[in-house]
Amino acid sequence: MNRETGSAPVWVDESRLHEFVEKLGQIGRNSDGGIDRTLYSPAWKRAQDLVSSFMGQAGLEVRQDTVGNVFGRLQGEEDGDCILTGSHIDSVKNGGAYDGALGVVSGIAALEVLGRDYGQPRRTVEVVSLCEEEGSRFNANYYGTRSILRMVTEDEPTRLMDSNGVTLAEAAASVGLDSSRLFEAQRNDLAMFIELHIEQSRILQDTGINVGIVDTISGLAWLQIAVKGRTDHAGATAMTDRCDALQGAARMAIAIDALAATQGPPLVATTGVMEVHPGGVNIVPGLVNFAIDVRHPDTSVLTNVVDGIQSECNRVAADRELEVDVEIVKNTPPHTLDSTLRKALSTSAEACGLSWRSLPSGAGHDSQTMGTRIPTAMIFVPSVDGRSHSPAEYSTPTDCARGASVLATSLHALAW
Ligand code: HGY
Ligand code: MN
Ligand code: MN
Repeated sequence: MNRETGSAPVWVDESRLHEFVEKLGQIGRNSDGGIDRTLYSPAWKRAQDLVSSFMGQAGLEVRQDTVGNVFGRLQGEEDGDCILTGSHIDSVKNGGAYDGALGVVSGIAALEVLGRDYGQPRRTVEVVSLCEEEGSRFNANYYGTRSILRMVTEDEPTRLMDSNGVTLAEAAASVGLDSSRLFEAQRNDLAMFIELHIEQSRILQDTGINVGIVDTISGLAWLQIAVKGRTDHAGATAMTDRCDALQGAARMAIAIDALAATQGPPLVATTGVMEVHPGGVNIVPGLVNFAIDVRHPDTSVLTNVVDGIQSECNRVAADRELEVDVEIVKNTPPHTLDSTLRKALSTSAEACGLSWRSLPSGAGHDSQTMGTRIPTAMIFVPSVDGRSHSPAEYSTPTDCARGASVLATSLHALAW
C-alpha cells in the first residue's frame, strides 16, 4: 500500500453496516417513526450502551469519559497522538436515524474491518460516539466535543436546564455521570478528526455524485426574540385598541423570511419556535417568544443579516406599539475544513473508484468545533431527497457503505 497516496481501497461490508444502523435506529424510535434521543435521556443511555457493545464486538478497547462520550480504541505500535473519527449519538426532537448515528457506526465498522484485515495500526486510532451535538434538551450544543477540547465552563452543568427544569448535572447523574468531573474529559492527544455524516441536503443526489467532501461549514446564529404587548379581552377590545404581541411576532417572522429571500442562497433563516402567552383563544396575546436560526458560510453576510433582523423587529414593534427584545443566544462562526485532510479523503474516494465533489454544509457539525483546534475533515453520504431532522431522513445502504469505505480507506492510509 502506498502510504503517500493511500491507494489501497478498504471495503466496509454493506450488510454489517446496515445491521448497526438498523439496531441503533430502533433506540428512541417514537410512534411517528422519528427518533427522540436527547442528552442523558433513557434512550440516550441505551444507545450509548449499544454503541459500546458494537465497539466491543469490533475488537476495540471501549471507554466512557466523564461527560458520556464513548470511545473505541485500536492502540498503535508507535506512541503519539491519536487519529479520531466519529460523530454524535443524540438527536433532534422527532429526528432521523442517520444524523450523527451513521458517523458513529461507520467508524466502528471501519475499525472492525481494519483491525481484522490489517492488524495493529502504526498510529493509534479511535472512534467516538459524542454525547451531544444538537442542543435539543439543554441548548448545550457540541457539549461532547467542547468537553474534549475544554471549551466548556464549570457552571454549565448546573446552569443549563431542560424545559422541565432538570439541570444538565441532574440528568447526567441519572445515568451515573458526575458533572463535577467535567474537565477530566479533556483530551490533549488528538492529531486529527474525520467525521462521516449524511449530507442533509440534496446536492449529491441531484448531481449523481457518490460522496461529498465538505469544504466549508456554514456559520450560524440563533436569536431569541420576545415581543411584549398587552393581554386584553378578545371579544370586548376593539381592533384599533390592541397591542397584540402575536400580530407583531407574525409580521416580524414574515419580514425575516423576506430578508432571507432578498439576500438569496446560500443564506437560510428559519422561525422554528413560537410560543404564544398566555395562550387562550379568547385572550389577545400579551407575549410571544420566538426563535430564529440563520446561517451563511460568510461571517460578514451573517452579521449583516442578523443586524437586519434586529432592525426589522424594531420597525414592526414601533408600528404596532409593542416592545421587542432580541437576544443572540448562539453564534458559531463558519469553518473551512483542513485542505490536506480533504485531499486525503478525495484520494481515498478515487482509490475506491467513487465519484466525489467538494460541497458546503448548511448544517452545523461537531467538526466545526473540532476544526478550531485540530485538523478536521468531513465525508458526506447522500441524503435521499435531502430530507433530515425528520422521520423521513434516509440514506441507502449502498451509499452508506460507500462513505464508510472512503473513511476506512482514509484511516488505513493515515494509520496503518
Ligand atoms: O443544527 C444543525 O445544523 C445541527 O443539526 N446541530
Ligand atoms: Mn442534526
Ligand atoms: Mn448531525
